[in-house]
Amino acid sequence: MTGQPDSSCRFFDRLAPGPLIIAHRGFRACFPENTLAAFGASLGRCGMIELDVRLSRDGVAVVVHDRLLTRISNAAQVAAGLGLTSLAVCDWRLDQLRRLDAGSWFLQADPFGTLTDGIADRGRLRTMLPQRIASLREVLAWAVFHRMPLNIELKDLENARLNEQLATAVVREVARARAGALVLLSSFNHSLLRFCRGLAPAIATAALQEGRHPSDLIDSLRSLGVCAYHPSDALADSAVIRAVRAAGLHVNVFTINDPVRQRQLFAAGTTGIFTDFPDNVSGTNPHPPDC
Ligand code: G3P
Ligand code: MG
Repeated sequence: MTGQPDSSCRFFDRLAPGPLIIAHRGFRACFPENTLAAFGASLGRCGMIELDVRLSRDGVAVVVHDRLLTRISNAAQVAAGLGLTSLAVCDWRLDQLRRLDAGSWFLQADPFGTLTDGIADRGRLRTMLPQRIASLREVLAWAVFHRMPLNIELKDLENARLNEQLATAVVREVARARAGALVLLSSFNHSLLRFCRGLAPAIATAALQEGRHPSDLIDSLRSLGVCAYHPSDALADSAVIRAVRAAGLHVNVFTINDPVRQRQLFAAGTTGIFTDFPDNVSGTNPHPPDC
């Protein structure tokens, strides 16, 4: 595609007007990331939720960020009992992944210091444990129920066949849930985005980028047929934001927890910001009062 963004980009017209707050992996500063607890806590605080997907060994799209299960679950303790030696998501079937506790790690790790600071409520969190690794199917059903837009980030599985299998599984689940209008697909792997466009031209896509911009940025985004550019904070200067917006595309920047930087980016014309501290009031308060 070389002209203006196509009808998939109406996705952005359907969002609430004003600065777009995107809850990064859910409300991950106060709840275990990418779980239904984190997504539920994001309701009313954001205009969209971002989550990450990978493939289980039996080809199911599951909501996990890392390649390994180690950081966000008790897989290291459970694996031997299930006859597993690998801790990679792709080596576990869905039924095995569902045996894991993907929530209690948060109490120990306190990754943002919100438990220590008293911002997050340890007692309330305990009542939500354990959390299970969610399938994309479950999260889509939840999102349709709550009419919550989702940015589904397809992780690069570093294998073309598996990447295509992941994209196919994601698109199939989105169609099954009739959630196309609620979904924005993104990836750092731009070939995969092209593949998604081929599979499902009506679903909006966004190009993630870190390190450096693609050469001929605007032409490159247009040729991908994406509706939005998702640069890292380091790449998001005013000139780039202006250029992408002038091309009729949206810009969402990750991951911005500093309220001053959030304001700068919105003032520069950014559509949205990903944050670990979502707050629907102003988009500038990094510590909502009741996590
Ligand atoms: O989609 C924005 C952001 O999630 C990309 O980085 O590593 O947090 O998935 P990461
Ligand atoms: Mg992500």
